Amino acid sequence: MLKEPKIVLVSNRGSYTLKEIDGKIEAVPAISGLVSAVEPVLKEKGGVWVAWGGREAAAPETPGVRLNVPPENPAYLFCEVPLTGDEIRRYYHGFTNGALWPLCHYFLEKCRYSNSEWLAYRQVNFKFALAALAETGPQDIVWVNDYHLALVPGIIRRHKPGLKQAFFWHIPFPHYDLFATLPWARAILRGLLGSDVIGFHLPDYSYNFLHAVNKLLEAPVDYNTFTIRWQGRKIFTPAWPMGIDYEAFQKLACDPKIRKQAEELRRQIGTERIALAVERLDYTKGILERLLAFERFLEEAPEWRGRVSLLQIAVPSRTAVPAYQQLRSQVEEAVGRINGRFSEGNYRPVHYFWRGIPRQELVSYYLAADIMMVTPLRDGLNLVAKEYVASRVDGTGVLILSRFAGAARDLKEAVIINPYDIEGTVVALKAALAMPVSQQKQRLRKLQEQVRRFDVRWWLANFQRALQEREVKEEDAVRRHLRVSSFSTLPSTSFIDA
Ligand code: UDP
Ligand code: G6P
Repeated sequence: MLKEPKIVLVSNRGSYTLKEIDGKIEAVPAISGLVSAVEPVLKEKGGVWVAWGGREAAAPETPGVRLNVPPENPAYLFCEVPLTGDEIRRYYHGFTNGALWPLCHYFLEKCRYSNSEWLAYRQVNFKFALAALAETGPQDIVWVNDYHLALVPGIIRRHKPGLKQAFFWHIPFPHYDLFATLPWARAILRGLLGSDVIGFHLPDYSYNFLHAVNKLLEAPVDYNTFTIRWQGRKIFTPAWPMGIDYEAFQKLACDPKIRKQAEELRRQIGTERIALAVERLDYTKGILERLLAFERFLEEAPEWRGRVSLLQIAVPSRTAVPAYQQLRSQVEEAVGRINGRFSEGNYRPVHYFWRGIPRQELVSYYLAADIMMVTPLRDGLNLVAKEYVASRVDGTGVLILSRFAGAARDLKEAVIINPYDIEGTVVALKAALAMPVSQQKQRLRKLQEQVRRFDVRWWLANFQRALQEREVKEEDAVRRHLRVSSFSTLPSTSFIDA
């Protein structure tokens, strides 16, 4: 039997943040949707993860560490791509999070386009591509992730044209009108087209991508089959929303230790009902709008004062970027104001934590929450929504979900809101608090079915199939070239079947 090809996963943020303490490297799990989704794949299949370790390298030539991880039960190799302070400033805080991130989330007013930051982006993409190439054999699969590394597939294609490459774009891909404002839009597209398969969460993101490729590069695209013809290759751009490890969440939610933690949490909060919100402190997540809605709700529904609290976990994120610093002050000011206005005795309306919670422990928060508020202004998908659904093993609970989260496309039984509409969010909160258990269960059953069916394994299998079918297609082309006539013995050659 043929050996399965090794996966060389490439992303900016790796599964661990590395810290050097007294000359020893400590690996702390990183918090990110990308990490949550793809780590189970490497844990199961092994392979290599090429990523930045989240720390500053002393000099450009500093070698990266190589670690077998997870430390307690090694399953794959983590290869660090070291970044200097200047690279972190111009590439990570600058081009990726000061230009591409706001652009793709429709915050054009927050975009800063700087040539020097673009040059750093190119340079760092080269670094990642070379690091990935060093780990990759001719039969291996390179799987590049997210907007930080859009140029990597093009660089790899130039160095090793025959390598199989997949790419997943984890955030929204904006409409052409917005994307075209980026002075280097064409270069980003050309870089991505080095891949064989470029996946997105939603068909709309794929369409936007195809449209941009067609308008900016004048390449022929097919909106029905999600394909692009480019430099003699046929590139597939499917929409496959990322899934979670459903079974793992269900298992954790049944764990007596985690259930006990959930009870303890409820006891500490002390109110009849708990609404939960969990995310990185990011302006895309609608934290401020949610707090305003909760404040309005307490004004309008005095009968709920003292009986319901909002538990807000805000994970520190990109703290060197001014827009994130400003958001933190605004959020904390709003929390202070609401608590000042409505606290009474032991009652605190908003419990606010500026820290991350380990993924396993988070399940106890999901179990403790009667209502989950996932109300981003724009979000590529949102895994927290799916994780809440998977964790509610008793079948109760209400998910309030923004229509601007990619997850809303499939999670139709959630209470869908427009986060810009504060009054509408108040109405949804009241409806969620009043929802009979029978209706909660009915909705959650359908949500769970959706999250269970389209889980992380389904997501990965799509990629594997698409790449395998590409292999068959190439074989097919070679045979045709050699005038071999036994094609009927080959499996389907359609690249689009999946
Ligand atoms: N997460 C976590 N601890 C926290 C908050 C979040 O481990 O305190 C995880 C959460 O379980 C989810 C991921 O971080 O898997 C966030 O993914 P999502 O797609 O919701 O948002 P992103 O941060 O990627 O924008
Ligand atoms: C989003 C992006 C990821 C990123 C994560 C956390 O999920 O799609 O690529 O890793 O946010 O952001 P950070 O800047 O901490 O890596």
